[in-house]
Amino acid sequence: MADKITLSVIKADVGGLVGHTSVHPDMMEAARQRLGKVKTKGGLSDFHVTRCGDDMELIMTHGEGPDNEKIHKLAWDLFVECTEIAKSLKLYGAGQDLLKDAFSGTIKGMGPGVAEIEFQERKSDPVIVFMADKTSPGAWNLPLFQIFANPFNTAGLIIDPTMHEGFRFKVVDVFENRSIEFSCPEDLYDLLMFIGAPRRFMIHEIYRKDGEIAACASTQKLSLIAGKYVGKDDPVVIVRCQSGFPAVGEALEPFAFPHIVEGWMRGSHNGPLMPVSFEQANPSRFDGPPRVIAAGFQVADGQLVGPRDLFDDPAFDEARKKANEIANYLRAHGPFEPHRLGLEDLEYTTMPKLMDKLAARFQREA
Ligand code: F6R
Ligand code: MG
Ligand code: MG
Repeated sequence: MADKITLSVIKADVGGLVGHTSVHPDMMEAARQRLGKVKTKGGLSDFHVTRCGDDMELIMTHGEGPDNEKIHKLAWDLFVECTEIAKSLKLYGAGQDLLKDAFSGTIKGMGPGVAEIEFQERKSDPVIVFMADKTSPGAWNLPLFQIFANPFNTAGLIIDPTMHEGFRFKVVDVFENRSIEFSCPEDLYDLLMFIGAPRRFMIHEIYRKDGEIAACASTQKLSLIAGKYVGKDDPVVIVRCQSGFPAVGEALEPFAFPHIVEGWMRGSHNGPLMPVSFEQANPSRFDGPPRVIAAGFQVADGQLVGPRDLFDDPAFDEARKKANEIANYLRAHGPFEPHRLGLEDLEYTTMPKLMDKLAARFQREA
């Protein structure tokens, strides 16, 4: 049997052109050059470098397994190199997501987002890498639930005997640094109780009942690492498709509904998640609204055949239109909730400082 393949998606915002809207082509080129050299030496099977808004996304295949020091260090060093380019061009927020000074074994907990899966390649192996900007990892909860647990979205849960058993969801509690598994459909209502609160509980991994990995999302929260607001986490998620997994179209279907996610301007506002083509992943209006792109690949002997730009389809025009309508409606609230996040969500922004500054002016009411 052939060796297992690892698909690693590692991403970071290390500088924006202009402001927080996009990544400079020189940084993209430097990333491609560096990964190209490593591939030539046999250190990677294949790679694809892309971006969503101001986030650079490294999509890599290799045989080293998840959490591999060499692969993580490669990504870290690449982000450091791109930070230097960003600094030389005085791009905005150069090095923003590199929260630690020196690499120490794993890139996890250092700022960049990571999603990795290891699997035995099937006869044909379609995967989708979803990448978002101006939002946090909890943004995946709703679509992942739809894809892997809702038969009104995913016909395969009913029709395909290999999916009929359902899936297991690993959910992390990012505040308490612990995780819990739910098995669906049995634990459906319990699962929803938790993932309906996406700020704290985030779906990290999904498994088929036979143990096969089906999806993996980055769940790194920058604010929890840094202790202050340093930019949104802008998460990624890998979803395996077809033949015992949801069809490509079932995995894309939830994004026809632009659900409300946290993020947008200053990471402090609720807004619709707009599915867009690669070309349109440039969040500019009020630094948003939040975007999601979908890159489809066929993994073939470790090669990434693709990508296909899966939201480049007029069938998602209505979702984009609706997202703009929702954006208008929410923006009309200005600084009021529920457009602006609740106070508890602003705890990593200037809110605590303002509270301290004004503490003496508060009078006890009778
Ligand atoms: C959102 C984001 C931006 C910035 C905003 C202010 O994730 O990064 O909305 O928060 O542009 O940036 P600063 O405070 O650097 O001027
Ligand atoms: Mg940025
Ligand atoms: Mg970003």
